[in-house]
Amino acid sequence: MTLINENYLKLPEYYFFNEIEQKINAHKVVHPKADVIRLGLGDVSQPLPGEVVKAMENAIRELSKIETFRGYGPETGYRFLIDKIIKYDYNARGVSLEPDEVFISDGSKSDVGNIGHIFGRDNIIAITDPVYPVYENAAIMGGRSGHLTEQNIWSNIVYIPCTPENNFIPELPTDKVDIIYLCYPNNPTGVALNKAELKKWVDYALENQAIIIYDGAYVAYINEDDIPHSIYEIKGAKKCAIEIRSYSKTAGFTGLRCSYTIVPKEIIGYTLMNEKIKINKLWNRRATTYYNGTSYIVQRGAEALYSRKGFKQYQTNIDYYLTNASIIRQEMIAAGYEVYGGVNAPHIWIKTPKNTPSWRFFQELLYEINVVCTPGSGFGQGGEGFFRFTAFNSRENTIEAMSRIKKRM
Ligand SMILES: Cc1ncc(COP(=O)(O)O)c(C=O)c1O
Repeated sequence: MTLINENYLKLPEYYFFNEIEQKINAHKVVHPKADVIRLGLGDVSQPLPGEVVKAMENAIRELSKIETFRGYGPETGYRFLIDKIIKYDYNARGVSLEPDEVFISDGSKSDVGNIGHIFGRDNIIAITDPVYPVYENAAIMGGRSGHLTEQNIWSNIVYIPCTPENNFIPELPTDKVDIIYLCYPNNPTGVALNKAELKKWVDYALENQAIIIYDGAYVAYINEDDIPHSIYEIKGAKKCAIEIRSYSKTAGFTGLRCSYTIVPKEIIGYTLMNEKIKINKLWNRRATTYYNGTSYIVQRGAEALYSRKGFKQYQTNIDYYLTNASIIRQEMIAAGYEVYGGVNAPHIWIKTPKNTPSWRFFQELLYEINVVCTPGSGFGQGGEGFFRFTAFNSRENTIEAMSRIKKRM
């Protein structure tokens, strides 16, 4: 008799975004001619930068010849990409890293979930609320969530409220926590932390021997000066923070899959006997055992983003999305909505009118004007009464969706 991991049974049957898909598909079956505009999903719409395509074409030609063929690569990534990451993403911002502190992966969702593997089950996890759902789901699957309380939250997870009252800037927990997930610029609220705000978290982690898992999936959207691009810009962070970044929303790699995780060698975890262990060693052991490396072709594609032309090309896409974000912000404010984010992020976080529950508002927009938003409650209890638009659709669709919103009023 094979026993299952019963923690999976604690989860809803479908991952949040799959549930939205099902509702949209059902609507399309009933209204096959409906021109549905999706301002909800987190996928990009602009094609890959030309330099990426060129580099991947070259790479595939290399693989097609006996002299230049390559099979398995290094599990943690090729040096040609790691060295560029260190030089352009970190050294350029005053941060030094060693090559074996950089781990190339096939997307940050995998690493955000898998990182829990190297930590003890009894750690107390803290997440902001609302939050990207994977952090909480992974804590539940990994047996760290405890039980569901009467308030419909998990007993062993510490939720840090992000509300209009605190400008969606999380305050330090009063309970002691061991692992803290922070995502900035934030999905779903679109808010970014400045240096002083992030420093508070680094200081907290250092004082409490906690580890921050810093999800920087949207770093490329930072527009304003005082916003740190990397948590390592804050003094001491290399002793307490793991940073995860992705090329998905930066350069249209959602389908290609490439990301990286930084695990500095200074970060220490403890055994029950109080022995100090380097977290880097554990993550390296895990990566080399469970993973056989991101494809050579894709890593060559990612490398091309660090060329002058590649940088310009993906920056054009980022500007395109940020202009969409600005259009959504302006139009929604003009339509009388309470609007947050969308300045340093492709996400716009909006209060539903008259406190309409998030899922009801999602249905109203879908059924009345064929516009898809993401219901805020899917990001946690703190998201109830909000919805999220993203800037990833085309300019035409973004403008059309805004015009439908206006007409609906
Ligand atoms: C905050 C955040 N982290 C990570 C991811 C995962 O990105 P990927 O797996 O494509 O790198 C997403 C995707 O939407 C996200 O919003």
